[in-house]
Amino acid sequence: MDIRKEYLEFFKNKGHDVVSSMPLVPDDPTLMFTNAGMVQFKDIFTGAVPKPANPTATSCQLCVRAGGKHNDLENVGYTARHHTLFEMLGNFSFGDYFKKDAIAYAWEFITVNLELPVDKLWVTIHDTDDEAFELWKEHISPDKIKRFGDKDNFWSMGDTGPCGPCSEIFYDQGEEHFNTEEDYLGGEGDRFLEIWNLVFMQYEQTKAADGTITRASLPKPSIDTGMGLERVIAIKEGVLNNFDSSNFQPIIKKLEELAGQKATSETIGSYRVIADHLRAASFMLSQGILFGNEGRPYVNRRIMRRAVRHGYLLGFRTPFLSEMYDTLCEILGNHYTDLVDQAAYVKEQITLEEARFFKTIDSGMTLFNEELANTKDVFSGEIAFKLYDEKGFPLDLTEDMLREKNLKVDNEKFNSLMNAQKAKAKAAWKGSGDSATEGDFKTLLEKYGENEFVGYENTSYKTKITALLDESFKEVTTLEKGSTGWVMLEKTPFYATSGGQAGDIGALEDNEHIAIIEETSKFYGLNLSKVKVENSTISRGEEVDAIVVNRYEVAKHHSATHLLQSALKMVLGDTVAQAGSLNESARLRFDFTYPKAMTTSQIEEVEDLVNSMIARGIQGSVEELDIEDAKKKGAIAMFGEKYGNRVRVVEFGDVSVEFCGGTHVKNSHDIGSFYITKESGVSAGVRRIEAVCGSAAISYAKSFMNKYQEVQSEVKNQDAITGIKKLKDQIKELKKELEEAQSSTAAPINEIMVGDVKVVVDVVKNGDIKKIVDDLKNANEKLAVLLLQPKGEKVMIVAGSKNTNVKAGDWIKNIAPIVGGGGGGRPDFAQAGGKDVTKVEEAKVAAIAYANENL
Ligand code: ALA
Repeated sequence: MDIRKEYLEFFKNKGHDVVSSMPLVPDDPTLMFTNAGMVQFKDIFTGAVPKPANPTATSCQLCVRAGGKHNDLENVGYTARHHTLFEMLGNFSFGDYFKKDAIAYAWEFITVNLELPVDKLWVTIHDTDDEAFELWKEHISPDKIKRFGDKDNFWSMGDTGPCGPCSEIFYDQGEEHFNTEEDYLGGEGDRFLEIWNLVFMQYEQTKAADGTITRASLPKPSIDTGMGLERVIAIKEGVLNNFDSSNFQPIIKKLEELAGQKATSETIGSYRVIADHLRAASFMLSQGILFGNEGRPYVNRRIMRRAVRHGYLLGFRTPFLSEMYDTLCEILGNHYTDLVDQAAYVKEQITLEEARFFKTIDSGMTLFNEELANTKDVFSGEIAFKLYDEKGFPLDLTEDMLREKNLKVDNEKFNSLMNAQKAKAKAAWKGSGDSATEGDFKTLLEKYGENEFVGYENTSYKTKITALLDESFKEVTTLEKGSTGWVMLEKTPFYATSGGQAGDIGALEDNEHIAIIEETSKFYGLNLSKVKVENSTISRGEEVDAIVVNRYEVAKHHSATHLLQSALKMVLGDTVAQAGSLNESARLRFDFTYPKAMTTSQIEEVEDLVNSMIARGIQGSVEELDIEDAKKKGAIAMFGEKYGNRVRVVEFGDVSVEFCGGTHVKNSHDIGSFYITKESGVSAGVRRIEAVCGSAAISYAKSFMNKYQEVQSEVKNQDAITGIKKLKDQIKELKKELEEAQSSTAAPINEIMVGDVKVVVDVVKNGDIKKIVDDLKNANEKLAVLLLQPKGEKVMIVAGSKNTNVKAGDWIKNIAPIVGGGGGGRPDFAQAGGKDVTKVEEAKVAAIAYANENL
């Protein structure tokens, strides 16, 4: 049975809208990850947005519970039922049906569709919920309905948000299989398996600055339910552990193959952790959550490194995880197509992260084990920090390794070292805004709400200053002349950096004020612009004209990026997937997955294609669509972006359809022209194209023309190519002449015979005098030769003798001092250097005299 399909069909038949899984990154600053099916509906529950025409919905939602309020990371591998990533089946009522129907639907699905035996089912309710008790009594015997307090039977999404008492359905897997002291209903054991949670949404929880939590009634009581798909699959397949079900077994089998060993009772935990973590990391990567040192990317890193460490325990010393990726795709790729579409990229990223950790894991494990040997009860906080800081071991990985030995880390010491390091880093970042905390923005958000972006239609807008912040994001009422801070406009035409598009710059103006907008960014839903006040103080509440100045050029680059992506797919194939992009007013950068460097002709082809798309004058259009309709249209999702149910789709005729929140030109010919300025590699499997268009393309072309003209004037205003060719010919000729001159063995002029001995003494300007001496020796039977050669400021002397009484060594010893040098050598060959070129003629005369005297 395809339980996912069965469930969605069941609720569809009960009139529910089937909605797709929302991204793992929720559009909610209070949540780390989407941790329940209700997250995408929370604003409907609270009444912040109107409820949809159909007040009931159903979904199968991917959830991550690692980090944040609901965190199961620590349990994975130690229990049969916990996962960092899992699929949650849910049905929702927005002020429509309530407890009665929710209970009846759940019971029907479990007992009729899933055919779970009634005698194995148990139910829990909130201890105050008599109504639920009465309703359940109609389906199940009262002694199988148990009451618990807030801890077990009150559910909330996070510290804030919709919440309410809940009722959980349990499946008893049998005492014969599970029999620890935790195996009672409500205990931590695996015997009583919670399969479905029905939340009776009645309140909205808010948290004041001092931490006090208040609950207010929701506009209408609603229903939120969640059933863990992995658990139900395991029950239906008759296995007692989720990891033994068909959802995980193929991965574990593949891992056994790679490890070259079957899992044993000792090693099975590692196999399970790896299978679980591979799923979580892969889904996160496929949705653009990479690896990093903070926030969500750090959670992903922690998950991945924990998997690597378990791989290390199984004997792996090099990356291995991506080898199981195709198996994962076989299990879930049909339903989650992102996983397949992003395969090459995800595998690449996994391998890179593994490789990074494999580099330090060995020395880290040695450090850990050495310290472990010295540890009695508490593991050193200093070493834990060193493992974190130098060896890349996240704290919870160290804690995880210690848990196996029933030991703990000295957290206090670790935290103090961590805080000291953070303080240092913060000092280095002072003034960059990073010192602001999430709390500062949340307070602003609560006070003023989100400010609307009106910049799709306007590049100038009359608006009001809602709030002013100083450089460290503390709210102020005024910003003085000359100071810098941040401004929140009631409605803002300034686009905040996102989706790779640079934030807008511009100005705030009216008769009195001029303030420069230097950048615009989003902070937890607030669109804030960095402002430098030029002439007079600006104050909260004032009216100003907000003017965007760079937009058109940015839009050209952003639209060109869309055309570029389409051209790349045409030239390199459909597997090219976007891996990042940047669109500014003077350049664009586009990263994409492709295994090797592009050839010059491929680059040229892509450039030509984009220019032809520009020349065709393709009309651009933007529309808002349901995500499913957008997908049907074939819209390309921008990698790393998160989407709600309604998405903005940007289209350029038949060449490009993309999900995109950015700003664009109206027609492709507005882009002007397009040049690729560089193609390079970012990391293995990821290439980067840098390009320019619009005004930047004109500047780029002009800079070439200027250079060309410079070259032309250097080559005396001939056509540059002809000029350069001519110069090259000249160089060739000169080289030839030089070579000839240097190898010239023409005999020196001063050549006399003394008896039958040829005496050659001279000053030789060019040529290799050593070679000349050798040549002369070869050509004559009796010879005495001494040559002097001035070279710059120095003089070189070489002497030779063959079958004569003149000893070359003595000869040179005698002569060299005249040119301020010294030297000597053998009787047949000697050389020396001197420093006084003015004395070469004098030395020559002396050399002749010496020969005459000594022959
Ligand atoms: N939101 C509820 C849960 O996650 C159904 O358990």
